[in-house]
Amino acid sequence: MSFDELIESAGISDRKQEILRLNHEYLAPNRVESWLAAGIPLVIAKREGYRIWDVDGAELQDFHLNGGTYNLGHRHPDLLAAMREALETLDVGNHHFPSEARGVFAEKLARNTPGDLHYVVLTPSGSEANDVAIKSARHATGRRKIVALDQGFHGASGLSGAVGEDTNARYFNSDFPDDFTMIPFNDLDALDDALKGGDVAAFLAEPLPATAGFPLPDDGYFPTVRKLCDDYGTLFIADEVQTGLGRSGSMWAIERFGAQPDMLVTGKGIAGGLYPIGCLVMTREAGSWLKDNGWGYVSTFGGSEIGCHIASRALDITTAPATTKAVRENSAYMRSGLDSLQDRYPYLTDIRQLGVIFGLGFDDALGGMRMTRSLYKSGLWAMFAGFDRRYLQFKLGLLVDKAYCDEALEKLETALKAATP
Ligand SMILES: Cc1ncc(COP(=O)(O)O)c(C=O)c1O
Repeated sequence: MSFDELIESAGISDRKQEILRLNHEYLAPNRVESWLAAGIPLVIAKREGYRIWDVDGAELQDFHLNGGTYNLGHRHPDLLAAMREALETLDVGNHHFPSEARGVFAEKLARNTPGDLHYVVLTPSGSEANDVAIKSARHATGRRKIVALDQGFHGASGLSGAVGEDTNARYFNSDFPDDFTMIPFNDLDALDDALKGGDVAAFLAEPLPATAGFPLPDDGYFPTVRKLCDDYGTLFIADEVQTGLGRSGSMWAIERFGAQPDMLVTGKGIAGGLYPIGCLVMTREAGSWLKDNGWGYVSTFGGSEIGCHIASRALDITTAPATTKAVRENSAYMRSGLDSLQDRYPYLTDIRQLGVIFGLGFDDALGGMRMTRSLYKSGLWAMFAGFDRRYLQFKLGLLVDKAYCDEALEKLETALKAATP
């Protein structure tokens, strides 16, 4: 169908049609057409807490959270207050000079990361934080090669876009086949093989590869990853952009798996979805270049002072005992509801879980996509896993309550009834 036919058959308001036309004309024609063709003409207008509203009024529970960006909910009142406070006196700042907001935030972040992680590099995105991680590993080891997971996603900038699943990098003729080696998750023999030449700077992995639907590591996987990296002089980078910030039941998912990374990357929800920030936290050794080269990485917007001020407050909320308690209770409550649904609906074949991170598997190669659509119609927004469309990413917020979970479980049941073939 042409765009005009798609938009006419969508049954949407004139206002939404106009928004879609602008986006189709000036921004992303293929993306707009794809959502229309999938029967999901979503244009988000109002957003508050863990709910979003379409411009045409439909209300949806947000179980996508933009990968954890809205971990603490949309427009958390304390974070809005922090942003307003920052706007009274600050702007993005001048990245060449020291800054109070950056210093305070970096100290707080370093204190809340495991082991010896110490130096912080602030970027405008998770992608760039991964780029800097790769460059830092190369500088620290004097090696070029990077090993990553073939179903990992680490961003869309130059290096981050080419490491892990690299379809888009190849599409843009921007892959690095001589430098980047991709291996399957949970395959320690493949990792040993890739590292044994002694020429690999870093192994980069998400603790649970999000875009593959959050598969869990086998018992002992990450401790052995750590040992292999130590044996071969390779650094281990944990990309916690989707799995960090309390979502796993610990501050960082890698802490649940008994391995200490040399570098940790975070972003998305770090400033509550109100300001773009990515962060790389490194051991003193991995980040040794910061002692020699003050301008090795610079970014006008990386470490914006407004963003840092909000992020400091977001870290306080994320690490508060009440939040940890809410995560423990909500994740257990949601899990028991999901188990009960699985008993009654065999179409739901698999429940992957770590804290509030859930990956739901269905008995159909495109089951995750079918459920995305079916849930959308039932009033819940959750997105299929891009690299494994049997799975649905089902991302619960940190601060929800039981009534919110009950409402979601009801919608899931309705959607399961409708999607079960
Ligand atoms: C695991 C992971 N790493 C890195 C990124 C890139 O972050 P950004 O979109 O802020 O560049 C993403 C984005 O979805 C991600 O999911």
